[in-house]
Amino acid sequence: MTKSLFESVTIGDLELKNRIAMAPLTRGRAGETRVPNELMAEYYAQRASAGLLISEATVVSAQGNGWIGSPGIYTEEMTAGWRQITERVKEAGGHIFLQMWHCGRASHSDFHDGLLPVSASAVKLNGDMIHTPLGKKEYEVPRPLTIEEIHATVDDYRTAALNAKEAGFSGIEVHSANGYLLNQFLDSKTNLRDDEYGGSPANKYRFLREVLAAVLEVWPSGRVGVRLSPNGVFNDMGSEDFRETYLYVIKELNKLDLGYVHIMDGLAFGFHEKGEAMSLSDFREHYDGVIIGNCGYSKDDAEQRIVEGTADIAAIGRPYISNPDLVERWQNDWPLAPYEDMSLWYTNEAEGYTDYPTYSA
Ligand SMILES: Cc1cc2nc3c(=O)[nH]c(=O)nc-3n(C[C@H](O)[C@H](O)[C@H](O)COP(=O)(O)O)c2cc1C
Repeated sequence: MTKSLFESVTIGDLELKNRIAMAPLTRGRAGETRVPNELMAEYYAQRASAGLLISEATVVSAQGNGWIGSPGIYTEEMTAGWRQITERVKEAGGHIFLQMWHCGRASHSDFHDGLLPVSASAVKLNGDMIHTPLGKKEYEVPRPLTIEEIHATVDDYRTAALNAKEAGFSGIEVHSANGYLLNQFLDSKTNLRDDEYGGSPANKYRFLREVLAAVLEVWPSGRVGVRLSPNGVFNDMGSEDFRETYLYVIKELNKLDLGYVHIMDGLAFGFHEKGEAMSLSDFREHYDGVIIGNCGYSKDDAEQRIVEGTADIAAIGRPYISNPDLVERWQNDWPLAPYEDMSLWYTNEAEGYTDYPTYSA
């Protein structure tokens, strides 16, 4: 029988009602305290008809911060704030995973009382400026983490994973994509280390491997996902040897029996031109478990990935900003509301966040 976007799928022991996931979307509504709030609970509950909600990127430690108003999960207050969200999502019949984040070099000393942001190596993010609490600034050359600090960061992930459990999440997604800390260790453009955390694919993967081992002490493997952006150029990434790195990584991840791997699909936007982009098929060849694909999918693109079997779940990002009932709209072939107005993506307001209506003819 042909698979459909609208049939159920299982990750670990969790049955999802359809194969549409809401992709992680940073929306900056947690304010200066970074404590998740009632407005965010409303937003996620509105979108609970997705088979899986993946939360916005959520920092695992104060050192991980690099975005104004993004939430954290490293204090009791933050954990309690998330609990009201997971409860609302469950009441609305949904499941939500927490995306765990550390910005690494994609941050600024303005977020850290004047201390430099950290990374694998002292490689500056070139190009864009960063919005800090003190204005728009140039990125800085980050400070490489010492080995002791890497171990301490692994501990931060373990604690955050415990907090996520306490907060009532259905699972967690380790964010190792889009040029943030774990991605900075995976890619040779940003990892110039000559210790056991740099050089060979095994060494570049070591930090992610240790983070996964730590969170797997807390969560059953089926409730843990990982996000990768093999072809990504966002945040000034893109390495010549990306194929070698990510083929190694996917073979290693295949040994862990995870809930899923979440891959930014190279056939959509965002891939770099240093060689042919990796596609979901490259990963499928080496991965036996659930694959979530993402990037620029229309309903037809998403359906195609499911039918051909390169993905088991399609993650949808921007359309979810303005279409809380995306599943119902696609199911009924109703038109989508436009989401392109970026001016409302990252404000601190309900406008452009919880005020998008469900479809009415
Ligand atoms: C406003 C906005 C916020 C985003 N925040 C995150 C995030 O927190 N974590 C993450 O992994 N990706 C994030 N992304 C990337 C999306 O998850 C997704 O990969 C991207 O939008 C492409 O999918 P789409 O074409 O369906 O929107 C963000 C994208 C947008 C537009």
